[in-house]
Parts: sequence; structure tokens; C-alpha cells
Amino acid sequence: MSSTQEVINLGSTNIQVSTLGTGTWAWGDGLFWGYGRGFSEQDVQEAFDSSLLNGINFFDTAEVYAQGRSEAFLGGFLREAQSRPVVATKFFPYPWRLRRRSLIKALRGSLRRLGLETVDLYQIHWPFPPVAIEIWAEALAEAVQQGLARAVGVSNYNEEQMRRAHRALAKHGIPLATNQVEYSLFNRRAETSGLLIACQELGVTLIAYSPLAQGVLSGKYTPDKAPPGIRGQRYSRAVLGQIAPLIRLQRDLGRSYGGRSASQVALNWLICKGTLPIPGAKNARQAHDNAGAMGWRLSPEDVSALDRAAGQIGR
Ligand SMILES: NC(=O)c1ccc[n+]([C@@H]2O[C@H](COP(=O)([O-])OP(=O)(O)OC[C@H]3O[C@@H](n4cnc5c(N)ncnc54)[C@H](OP(=O)(O)O)[C@@H]3O)[C@@H](O)[C@H]2O)c1
Repeated sequence: MSSTQEVINLGSTNIQVSTLGTGTWAWGDGLFWGYGRGFSEQDVQEAFDSSLLNGINFFDTAEVYAQGRSEAFLGGFLREAQSRPVVATKFFPYPWRLRRRSLIKALRGSLRRLGLETVDLYQIHWPFPPVAIEIWAEALAEAVQQGLARAVGVSNYNEEQMRRAHRALAKHGIPLATNQVEYSLFNRRAETSGLLIACQELGVTLIAYSPLAQGVLSGKYTPDKAPPGIRGQRYSRAVLGQIAPLIRLQRDLGRSYGGRSASQVALNWLICKGTLPIPGAKNARQAHDNAGAMGWRLSPEDVSALDRAAGQIGR
């Protein structure tokens, strides 16, 4: 990152990241993302390199992504990298994981795959039962106390669940740094539910996942060209038809900001909302395009225009 580049802190921690990160779910994942059919290890290595080169210093992975392969890829790339970016991974609360120590064990597995002694951000992937929110928060606190994680966060937690995790960590003097949830022009539940405001109140950074609605907000999918595989079910022809006016506005606005892409407009909107988007990138071209969402801002009027256009999408 250049010294003049804008950075944000993860919650109230001193960990500084670029205003946009790169998501790595697709790295090694054949089932959902078609890894091995259209993109390869070389492509994801180039997505990593291009992210760093273009000022992205934050990578998000999880132990479940491609059954550990995403972490292993990231670990391999980190070993070769010129600089050490900020790395986030996640613990998956499988129903057979019932004790706090299972989190520490899982974290050690992630660290081994990543080739790190400490991860910068360790997150609980989902607030699934049967284990109480407070128990996993205690385990996160232990991870920090043992020096295995610098900061901790949660993911897919609603406001009430987030407040509980925040309180439980506060008893140990540890801040809840982040809550990673789905948020985009296509899915604005974080705004309508009050979660985004609660994050601001608590000093928690909202990390926006699927910020391009899994590629749809790039504008490359249309009613005549639905996304491949499982994605095609969620983003049906009807949905893609409803989104078309929003995409048109993204393109028009992009042009008025000196040739920005529809993806860059969608990602910049999330930055303007005070969140940290983590678009997935399968190759250098996508990473480079996504990085171009940094370093400029949509005007408040244009943010409102996008709000209105997004509000027209029926569900
Ligand atoms: N915590 C959670 O439960 C959770 C859940 C989901 C995701 N995540 C995290 O969030 C990250 C991002 O979410 P996501 O991957 O679901 O969705 P996304 O970022 O909205 O979409 C990523 C996909 O969009 C396409 N794409 C990306 N950049 C593009 C560009 N500039 N131009 C055109 N197409 C582009 C690529 O797929 P195609 O080229 O195939 O279209 C890419 O795989 C994940 O990698 C993961 O780290 C977390």
C-alpha cells in the first residue's frame, strides 16, 4: 500500500486495512464457484498478487472454504509475498463442536494451513446452536489471550446476537472488532434491520460479504445470460430483469466518474455506507477492477440515487 492510501481500523483495534478487501471463498472451490473449470491455481495466485499490487491489504478466508484449500492457497501465496497483508479466517461451529477448546484446535489447524503463528482476525462463521453465543465469545477471548489471534469478530450475527458477543468479550477487555454479513445494493437487510447502526454505535466494523451479489452487480449477467450453477437459482431471469434499471444507473454513474465500472460503483456505495466490502476475485482482472473502487467517493446525491434504484427491486 502507498503511504497516502486511505485505511480504516478494524473496529476499535489498531489493525489497519485498505477500504476494501479480497474474499477467497472461490479459491479451490469447484462445487459453488467452478474452480478448475475456467479458473485455476495460477489465476487465484494472480488475483492475490494483483490485489496487493493495487493496494488491497486485507484477505478473508475460512476453514470451510474448499475444505481448507482456500486457507492453504492463501498461506502459500503469503510465503512468497513481498508484504504481509492482514489475514482474516473463520471458525465453523459444526454441531459436534461443543467445547471451547474445539475452537482453539480449529484455529491451530487454520494457522497451520496459513503458515502463520497468529491470525489478524478470527471470526465465528455463523451463530448456529447448540453452543451459546457467550461460550464461543469466551473461546475467542482465549484465542487472543493465547496470542493466536490479534482481533476477533463474528459473522452472520443479528443485532441481538452481536450485542451478546460484544458484552461477553468486553468482560475480558477485548473488543468485538467486526461483524461480517451479506450486504450489497441487492441485499440491504443490514440497513433495514438496524444492524449497521448498531455496529456504528458499538464501534464494530461491518464487513460486507457478497458485495457484488455474487457477480450480478457487475452487470455481466442478464435475463438472457444467468450466472452458472447454483447461483442461477437465486438470481433467476425474473430477478435479473428487476435489477436491470439499477445496473443501468451504476453504469451511467460510473461513466460520470471518469469511466468507473458498474462493480466499482456497487463497491464504492458500500464504502460510502461506512462498511468494508470484500469482493471475491477469481483472477487478476477482477481483483484489479475491484481495487478501482478505492480512492474516490460517490457524492451523497448519487448514493441516494442508488438507494432509490435499489429500493425498486422487488423480492
Ligand atoms: N461469512 C459468510 O458467511 C460469507 C458468505 C459468503 C461470502 N463470504 C466472503 O465474502 C467474499 C465475497 O463474497 P462472494 O464471493 O459470495 O460474492 P461477491 O464478492 O459478490 O462475488 C464474487 C464473484 O463475482 C464475480 N466477480 C468478482 N469481481 C468481479 C468484477 N470486477 N467483474 C465481474 N465479475 C466479478 C466472480 O464470479 P464470476 O466471474 O463467476 O461471476 C466472483 O467470484 C467471499 O469470497 C468470502 O470471503 C462470507
